[in-house]
Amino acid sequence: MVYSPESPVRITLFNPKGGVGKTTLTTNIAFALAEMGRSVLLVDSDPQCNLTASLLPDEQIDDLLNQSNGSDGQTIWTAVSPVVHDTRVGRLVEPISVESNVKLLPGDIRLFEFEELLHDFWKDSLKRRLGALRATASISMLVSQIHRQSPLDYVFYDTGPNIGALNRVLLLDSDFFVVPVTCDLYSVRALATLGKALAKWIFDAETIAAIAPADAELLRSTPAFLGYVPQRFKVYGRSMAAERCFDLREVKNRIHTDISKVLREFSHNLAPPPSVDPMLGRFEDMAPLVLAAQREGVAIWESSGGTPSLRATARRTFHGIARRIEQAAHGAGKRALSGPAQGTGADDIRMSALGC
Ligand SMILES: Nc1ncnc2c1ncn2[C@@H]1O[C@H](COP(=O)(O)OP(=O)(O)O)[C@@H](O)[C@H]1O
Ligand SMILES: [Mg+2]
Repeated sequence: MVYSPESPVRITLFNPKGGVGKTTLTTNIAFALAEMGRSVLLVDSDPQCNLTASLLPDEQIDDLLNQSNGSDGQTIWTAVSPVVHDTRVGRLVEPISVESNVKLLPGDIRLFEFEELLHDFWKDSLKRRLGALRATASISMLVSQIHRQSPLDYVFYDTGPNIGALNRVLLLDSDFFVVPVTCDLYSVRALATLGKALAKWIFDAETIAAIAPADAELLRSTPAFLGYVPQRFKVYGRSMAAERCFDLREVKNRIHTDISKVLREFSHNLAPPPSVDPMLGRFEDMAPLVLAAQREGVAIWESSGGTPSLRATARRTFHGIARRIEQAAHGAGKRALSGPAQGTGADDIRMSALGC
């Protein structure tokens, strides 16, 4: 254990656009941190359950979903459904061990029902209602309970592709967030939407905290921007090269104006200054590895896909990203964000160099 006994470091990979690699990156960063000896919990908080599907066999998922309403259930729905049923207090569930040092809190399609209610809980939190505040913080409290039972270094929330009430509580519970970005028009344009949404969420959370009763459960509400990861891969069977492709310098500028600048208006601790390029690493097209790893439920460099050299590159990439995360999260904490960028690579390398 290297981190606070009270709370693990909570991280969300977020881009409201789907298919940019959030789930793939989340899983493999977790595996890299686990290889480095860290204890990691993956929370599948996307009702689409892609993370769970990539780590557990179908039969096991079927059983989990069948049992998730019962007291022995083990999905995230089991944990939050009492909140939906009006007790406003979640239930502790035991995460599933998927690998040495990696646990999974499985996803559940019924999380959509929870999200419906979260809209009202948020509004009622602004009216100082204790039950609504507790319900809003229920996933956060669950993670803290799991950590108290078996200590964790990191928690990763996997998110669905939207700006919704569920993602709002996940981001506001995170110490850090990371933005995967592909070179296409929509993924880059989504950055402005992300920045605006975060600013509004933090502002509202500050308002809620300022007026909340003293014994209210509150989300931490200071998600710091840790960095971005450019991605390049084929989606829906065709290359993005056929579409408008941003170069990396342009992506870096958008990252600064749409995210860092917006967050730094709240606090300089929430994002790096313009002099720092917060690129955490680049994730090239590794389709043979990614597909094999999804089938086998392992890290991409442990999969049977691709060549040994591609697997070695994948391992280097993810250990590099994991080390950057450790640097930011460990010791200096959020202050590390204002330090010089390390190992980010030259910012003038174009997406075309990655295959666009
Ligand atoms: N670097 C990559 N190389 C090749 N395929 C990838 C890569 N990253 C993701 N994919 C594939 O792209 C699709 C979308 O990735 P995913 O991680 O599910 O994105 P998101 O969670 O943002 O929707 C998946 O089918 C995944 O297997
Ligand atoms: Mg996903």
